[in-house]
Amino acid sequence: MTRENASKEQALWYEIAAFEQLLVRDMSKKVLIAYGSRYGSTEEIVRAMVQILEKEGLETQLLDLRQTKQKQWPTLASFDGILVGSGIKMFRWVGDATTFLKKHADELKALKAKGLVVGVFVSCGSASTPEGHAEATDRYVDKVLTDLGIKAEVDIYDAFGGVFDLSSSAPMGVLDKRMLGMAAKQMVKDTGIHLTEGGRNDLRDWDQIKTFTEHFAQLLKAGDGAN
Ligand SMILES: Cc1cc2nc3c(=O)[nH]c(=O)nc-3n(C[C@H](O)[C@H](O)[C@H](O)COP(=O)(O)O)c2cc1C
Repeated sequence: MTRENASKEQALWYEIAAFEQLLVRDMSKKVLIAYGSRYGSTEEIVRAMVQILEKEGLETQLLDLRQTKQKQWPTLASFDGILVGSGIKMFRWVGDATTFLKKHADELKALKAKGLVVGVFVSCGSASTPEGHAEATDRYVDKVLTDLGIKAEVDIYDAFGGVFDLSSSAPMGVLDKRMLGMAAKQMVKDTGIHLTEGGRNDLRDWDQIKTFTEHFAQLLKAGDGAN
C-alpha cells in the first residue's frame, strides 16, 4: 500500500469511528425527572440523581413541576424512563406532582407496554429514621400510587429522608418554620434522633438515594426501552 493510500485508509477509519460515536450518543436512553420541591430538598436529590444517571451513560432532562406551565410539559413518549419525585408538607405531595401523575396515568399505562421504566420517590421528615421509613413509604408513596390507580405501572419506588432546616435562613415562611420546629421536637421525643437547634439538619441517606438511582438505571439498561 502506498503512503497516500494508507493515510486515506486512516482517514476513513477516523470517519467511521466518529460516525459510530454519533450513533451511540443518539441511542443513549433518555430519562425525564419530573419533580416538585417546596424548600429545595427534593431538588437536591434530583441533582444527585442526574450525576448518577449520566455516569451510567443515560441522558437526563429535568422538569420542575412547580415552575413549568402544564402546556410546556414534554411528551412522555420521547423518554425511555421517567422518575417522579415530591417533597411532603402536611402529609401531602406538591399538587403539581400529583397532577402530573394523574394527567399521564393512561399514557403511562400505554408506554409501559413499550418498555418505559417508571420510578417514584418522596423526600419527607418521617422517612428520616429507620423506624419511620416503612410507614412513610406506605403512606406517601404506596397509598398515593394506589389511589391514583398507577401502582402497577411503577417499577421502583421509595421514601427518602428530608431536611429539617431549623436555621433562621430556612427558605420558608414564619408559619412553616413554626410547624417544622414543632414536628422536629416531636421527632426528637419519639425517636431520640439528634437535631441541631438553629441548624440545617440534612437527614437524607445519600447511599439509599444512590442505590435507588443505580437500580433504576439498571432496569432501564436491561430493557429495550420505549424508543
Ligand atoms: C411546613 C412543613 C410541613 C411538613 N410536613 C411534613 C409531613 O407532614 N410529613 C413528613 O414526613 N415531613 C414533613 N415535613 C418535612 C419535609 O417533608 C422535608 O423537609 C422535606 O425535605 C421537604 O422537601 P422539599 O424541600 O423538596 O419540599 C414538613 C416540613 C415543613 C417545612
